Amino acid sequence: MVASVHPLATEAGLAALRRGGNAVDAAVAVGLTLGVVDGKNSGLGGGCFILIRRADGQLIAIDGRETAPANATRDMYLRDGKPRPELSQQGPLAVATPGALAAYDLAIREHGRLTLSEIILPAAEIAERGFLLDRSNASAQASAGRILARVNGGTCSLLKPDGSPWQEGERLQQPDLAKSLRGIAREGVDHFYRGPIAEQVGQWMAEHGGILSRDDFANYRPVLREPLVTKYRDWTIVGFPPPSSGGVHVAQILNILEPFDLQEHYRRDPGQYQHLLAEAMKLAFADRAYWLGDPDHARVPRGLVDKQYARQLAARIDLNRVTKVAGHGDPTAADERVFEKHTTHIATADAAGNWVAMTQTINTTYGSKVIVPGTGIVLNNEMDDFAIAPGAPNAFGLVGAEANAVAPGKRPLSSMSPTIVLRGQTPILSVGAAGGPTIITQSLQAIVRRLDLELPLADAISQPRIHHQWSPDRLRVESRLDDQLKKDLRLRGHVLDEVGNMGVSQAVEYDDQTRLFRGVADPRVPGRAAGP
Ligand code: GLY
Repeated sequence: MVASVHPLATEAGLAALRRGGNAVDAAVAVGLTLGVVDGKNSGLGGGCFILIRRADGQLIAIDGRETAPANATRDMYLRDGKPRPELSQQGPLAVATPGALAAYDLAIREHGRLTLSEIILPAAEIAERGFLLDRSNASAQASAGRILARVNGGTCSLLKPDGSPWQEGERLQQPDLAKSLRGIAREGVDHFYRGPIAEQVGQWMAEHGGILSRDDFANYRPVLREPLVTKYRDWTIVGFPPPSSGGVHVAQILNILEPFDLQEHYRRDPGQYQHLLAEAMKLAFADRAYWLGDPDHARVPRGLVDKQYARQLAARIDLNRVTKVAGHGDPTAADERVFEKHTTHIATADAAGNWVAMTQTINTTYGSKVIVPGTGIVLNNEMDDFAIAPGAPNAFGLVGAEANAVAPGKRPLSSMSPTIVLRGQTPILSVGAAGGPTIITQSLQAIVRRLDLELPLADAISQPRIHHQWSPDRLRVESRLDDQLKKDLRLRGHVLDEVGNMGVSQAVEYDDQTRLFRGVADPRVPGRAAGP
């Protein structure tokens, strides 16, 4: 079963399964194809987290998060002492060293059955042949077209030759990207990290005021992390550890909610149920802003996922009223027990028992907007996921502290939350999302709705979502949320921001009654979930 945001990417994953590949090969095939057909969200120029449950039961977390260039400095986005977010969000200085390809390569070498070249060539063919732009790609081109053209000196390979955006239904061909993909198929990842692509990017950066260098590419390494395994009622939640904040905070929020009978609240008083979720989210995000960062550079307390700490936080929730949360809490033994360390989510599973939850990103739409001529690769703006100054909000309005300050070689904090749920030893759900900090709260709501509320998976993904990230102190809700619920939340003291659609989630589950997989691609975008 394969679930992704684009039918061509899902088809690439299914083709990998049909050729004898497993769920890992399928996830990487989807990831590489999304870089071609959904380049606004992810691709070779970005990073990813790959969470794998192997058929033999082993749990693997591959960290392909981008790293800050060696010449990055803590205050590189300050001018006259003031933060300049536009520098971390667009153009050469926004780009961190890409990690996705190195992570894909490690995943399939150690846990797949196909070769990188077998998986990458079909993606190269789509780049060459072109594909018809859907509504979401066309609207991203329309809104980012001017910036893409400006950042790339008048025009770029993603736009029409006259610099205007492609329209829905038109065919987008990417010959430069096809050439890059074919070069990698021929020469392996060295073509990217130690060959012509690193050279071209390094040279362009030196000529355009960037700091990312050929050596940053050569020095990039994916990191094997210890998956974050916690208990929630009868289930085991397997999450991604820092530099993802997703695993920690999905687990922390579930821990805060555990003393409550969520199904009972949902049935008897749905407003109270939504309020409870919002208050738990707020408490966790206050901790995120203070404690979370790259565990190789900052001391991230393991106590954040302790049950006892969660009980203390849960006790602060008033079921009838908003509680003011002034700042972070103090998890158990914060000094001693630490973690040693716009986006898209892919869920795959195979009959042998391999499961993958993989989230990948170049950060916001078209990342830094930089496409170094000749490469066709959209470079990320992941540097904006650092706290560029204490308290300065990033593109998602998130604030951070010292733990997430810029430093050379450091990985910016992420919200990506690839999650696998087990009952006993049996995997039953792979889930994750796209959409900045809402990734955490989308994944959480999918889990709670499926496990606690026992909603069908399709409803767990499609029903309207809420999101609270502590700062700003406002509750974001999808406008489709029932009017009575909105009224109820306002009466409890929430200030509501209504938005159209919030994020995009994908999930795969195993139904032990029918002994079948079920996949769901979020209906908010035209994705697809299917089996071979
Ligand atoms: N770039 C979004 C995230 O990793 O959270």
